[in-house]
Amino acid sequence: MSGGAPRIVLVVAVAENGIIGRAGQLPWRLSSDLKRFRQLTLGKPVVMGRKTYASIGKPLDGRDNIVLTRQPDFHPPGVYLAGAIEAALALGQRLAADRGVDEVMVIGGEEIFRRTLDRAQRIHLTRVHATPAGDARFDPPGPPAWRETHRAPMVQGPNDQFPADFIVLDRQA
Ligand SMILES: NC(=O)c1ccc[n+]([C@@H]2O[C@H](COP(=O)([O-])OP(=O)(O)OC[C@H]3O[C@@H](n4cnc5c(N)ncnc54)[C@H](OP(=O)(O)O)[C@@H]3O)[C@@H](O)[C@H]2O)c1
Repeated sequence: MSGGAPRIVLVVAVAENGIIGRAGQLPWRLSSDLKRFRQLTLGKPVVMGRKTYASIGKPLDGRDNIVLTRQPDFHPPGVYLAGAIEAALALGQRLAADRGVDEVMVIGGEEIFRRTLDRAQRIHLTRVHATPAGDARFDPPGPPAWRETHRAPMVQGPNDQFPADFIVLDRQA
C-alpha cells in the first residue's frame, strides 16, 4: 500500500449515449469487460447499490461486498450493509487497509455513481461503442477536473457484442 487513505475508484462501462443499464441489467454482453472488471476489483472492497447487488444476485467472490440500502430488513448473506454513502466508503477504506490494498472500488449503479463521484480520485471507464436504449446513465466527467491518463482498445472476442475502449480518468490535483 502506498500510504494515506485508500482511494475511491469508480469502475463503469458507459455507452456512447451515456447509458449504463436497462431494466436493472447491463444492456450488452461484453465478456472481455467482465474479465477486466474482475481483474480490477479482485481482492478489494466493492461498494454497490442494492439494485446492482440484486442484478448480480450473489456476493462477488474474492472481494468484500458492501451493499448500500435504506431498508432495515434487507439482510442477504455474505455482504456488508451500509445505510449511507459515507458509512459505506469508510467501511470500504477500513477493509482495504486491513487487506493491505489501496483502493475501494465503487461498482454502481447510476445512483451510487452519482453520489460517490465527488469522492472519487480515479475512474476505470469502459467506453462501449454502441447506443443502446436504457434507463440508467453515467456522464463521465471531463477537464479541467479530470484528465484521461490511459486508453487502449478492448480486443473484441466472440463474446463481446460491441467494440469498446478501456480508459482511465484521473482527478487532477
Ligand atoms: N454499466 C455499468 O458499469 C453498470 C454498473 C453497475 C450497475 N449498472 C446498471 O445500473 C442499474 C442500477 O442502477 P440504479 O441507480 O437503478 O440502482 P443502484 O445505484 O444499483 O442502487 C440504488 C439503491 O441503492 C440504495 N441507495 C442509494 N443511495 C443510498 C444512500 N445514500 N444510502 C443508502 N442506500 C442508498 C437504495 O437501496 P434501497 O432501495 O434498498 O434502499 C437504492 O434503491 C442497473 O441497470 C445495472 O445493471 C451498470
